[in-house]
Amino acid sequence: MRFQGKLLFLVVAAVLLVAAVATAGDVPMADNAYIGSEACFDCHDAADLGMQADVHMQIQSFEVQGREVGCEGCHGPGKLHAEEGDPELIRTFAEEADYSNQVCMDCHATKNLPEWEASIHALEAVACTECHGVHGERNKPNEACNTCHADSRAAFELPSHHPLREGKMNCSSCHNPHSATEFMLKSRMRKADVCYTCHQGIEGPYIFEHPPVQEDCSLCHLPHGSAVNNLLTASEPTLCLQCHDYHFHSGYRPPEDEIVDVGGFERENPWGHEGFRIAYTTNCTGCHARIHGSDTPSQTTTNYGKGLTQ
Ligand code: HEC
Ligand code: HEC
Ligand code: HEC
Ligand code: HEC
Ligand code: HEC
Ligand code: HEC
Ligand code: HEC
Ligand code: HEC
Ligand code: HEC
Ligand code: HEC
Repeated sequence: MRFQGKLLFLVVAAVLLVAAVATAGDVPMADNAYIGSEACFDCHDAADLGMQADVHMQIQSFEVQGREVGCEGCHGPGKLHAEEGDPELIRTFAEEADYSNQVCMDCHATKNLPEWEASIHALEAVACTECHGVHGERNKPNEACNTCHADSRAAFELPSHHPLREGKMNCSSCHNPHSATEFMLKSRMRKADVCYTCHQGIEGPYIFEHPPVQEDCSLCHLPHGSAVNNLLTASEPTLCLQCHDYHFHSGYRPPEDEIVDVGGFERENPWGHEGFRIAYTTNCTGCHARIHGSDTPSQTTTNYGKGLTQ
């Protein structure tokens, strides 16, 4: 009985497996054959399909290790379909992503896309054709991002933003949507390397470093867009106060008479009673101007020159 149960299970599993393969969308190979792209043009117009200038129509079989090229390189053998004009008899890309991606990866696994299988997009079963229309006008992969990542795109509408909507960059300036790196960024070792490709001036190395800059630009910046100037995550001084305390000077209220005692010397104080509070509680980078790092020691020596003031 138990043996029969197992047998039944195996039979059912086998049937399901065959069914799965069959519904995976391939057309039966028996009697089918490759007939070359010319045959397709009897009924299909290359110009309408936007294929005249497409690189896939230029490649030769030897360039892809003897694989089929032209229309059939993607659509599979076309003999049966061409005989009957039956759309059911040709491979389309309406099938599950796993399957249709395999058609592209048959060539591209060795060309350009070694990390694809480990990328988040592959793991989430996003099809190549979600981004690559292949046929003509539809092949604008950077525009495809917006359909699934509307939130990320929307951030570029904020007042401070990378000039994406101005057409000076696009999503793939920073992301490689086929890669397995953190956040699919175009950087191997450090996340910030992608920023340094355009903002070389910030890279350093510096004698006086600011540790969060070395750690991760996103501690202070939103890379897409922000309501705060300079793509900052918060305005000053809030930004800095997430990690630092106010200077003790912030609470200092000098007397109104404008003469202050500085270490035993009498000095004029043109900024008045509120001067210290205002100076120290608004814009920290007014003094700590070298916020990303400095090679010049800060004015006073109390902090071993690490104050990032110049
Ligand atoms: C005898 C005419 C004829 C020939 C030759 C022909 N097709 Fe078609 N094809 C059709 C017709 C009719 C349709 C269905 C209507 C349409 O989508 O234009 C079609 C549809 C298709 C489709 C879309 C299928 C779908 O379900 O949306 C693809 C892909 C296709 N053909 C590829 C090819 C390729 C590749 C070749 C050459 C190997 C080829 N065809 C040769 C007539 C032909
Ligand atoms: C690089 C792979 C590739 C090549 C080469 C290619 N196609 Fe396609 N084709 C696709 C994909 C993917 C689709 C699904 C629709 C889309 O994403 O653009 C498609 C869709 C189609 C369709 C149905 C949709 C439509 O636009 O009407 C037809 C017909 C078609 N192809 C015919 C052809 C013919 C004819 C050739 C050769 C001139 C060809 N294809 C070459 C990948 C390819
Ligand atoms: C027969 C092999 C083959 C197949 C199948 C194939 N490609 Fe290609 N593809 C190539 C070659 C070769 C190039 C030339 C560029 C290169 O050397 O990287 C190319 C180039 C491209 C490019 C760059 C286009 C450009 O203008 O530079 C894209 C995008 C692309 N393929 C997407 C796809 C997608 C999506 C599929 C599946 C629908 C697919 N390919 C299927 C061989 C193939
Ligand atoms: C999430 C969207 C997306 C998906 C999914 C996607 N691509 Fe791309 N692909 C792009 C973008 C964006 C570019 C870069 C265009 C540019 O440089 O402006 C690109 C470029 C390419 C290129 C050109 C060579 C290169 O590396 O720059 C090839 C080839 C390619 N893709 C093939 C594929 C294949 C095959 C698949 C499926 C296995 C696929 N892509 C899946 C968005 C995508
Ligand atoms: C200037 C570089 C840059 C550009 C341009 C860019 N991104 Fe990003 N993106 C990043 C960085 C850096 C991260 C990682 C953020 C972090 O560390 O929290 C990221 C994260 C993401 C994430 C992960 C979720 C999130 O928001 O944290 C998505 C999705 C994303 N980007 C999509 C896009 C899309 C879509 C576009 C184009 C409309 C785009 N990005 C343009 C740099 C960029
Ligand atoms: C068909 C839908 C779809 C399209 C189109 C698409 N993505 Fe994605 N993307 C996803 C899904 C699903 C995830 C995983 C869940 C998430 O983080 O939202 C993802 C994740 C990401 C991530 C985050 C990776 C991480 O580590 O969290 C980035 C960055 C990203 N996509 C960039 C892009 C870019 C750039 C484009 C355009 C070239 C694009 N995506 C187009 C569906 C899509
Ligand atoms: C492809 C080039 C490129 C990359 C990569 C890049 N940026 Fe930019 N960044 C720009 C351009 C262009 C501007 C606009 C400069 C201008 O308007 O004068 C800019 C501006 C900025 C600004 C100032 C914004 C403002 O409101 O003036 C900050 C902050 C910034 N980028 C941070 C980053 C960070 C962090 C990264 C890495 C996640 C990064 N950038 C990656 C090109 C790039
Ligand atoms: C500790 C917070 C902090 C970190 C971390 C940080 N920044 Fe900044 N960044 C700022 C502040 C604050 C400003 C505004 C400076 C000002 O107003 O003088 C700024 C301004 C900028 C600007 C525009 C002005 C300029 O100097 O060109 C760029 C570009 C920039 N940052 C890039 C980066 C990059 C790239 C990283 C990562 C390597 C990074 N930042 C890490 C705080 C930070
Ligand atoms: C994510 C946390 C973080 C943020 C945000 C941050 N800092 Fe720092 N900052 C640090 C760390 C950690 C050190 C190193 C402290 C040490 O060495 O004792 C440091 C050091 C400094 C120093 C040098 C003092 C020293 O002892 O080395 C100054 C000045 C400074 N930060 C100013 C700022 C200003 C101004 C801002 C806002 C624009 C800011 N920081 C934002 C974490 C941060
Ligand atoms: C009026 C100029 C000025 C302003 C405004 C200012 N600082 Fe400073 N800060 C200094 C000077 C000068 C030092 C001492 C540098 C030295 O000792 O070399 C210093 C030192 C520091 C240190 C190192 C202190 C220590 O003991 O390790 C930190 C951290 C710091 N400031 C953070 C901030 C933050 C956060 C703000 C904004 C809330 C701010 N500063 C505003 C001038 C200023």
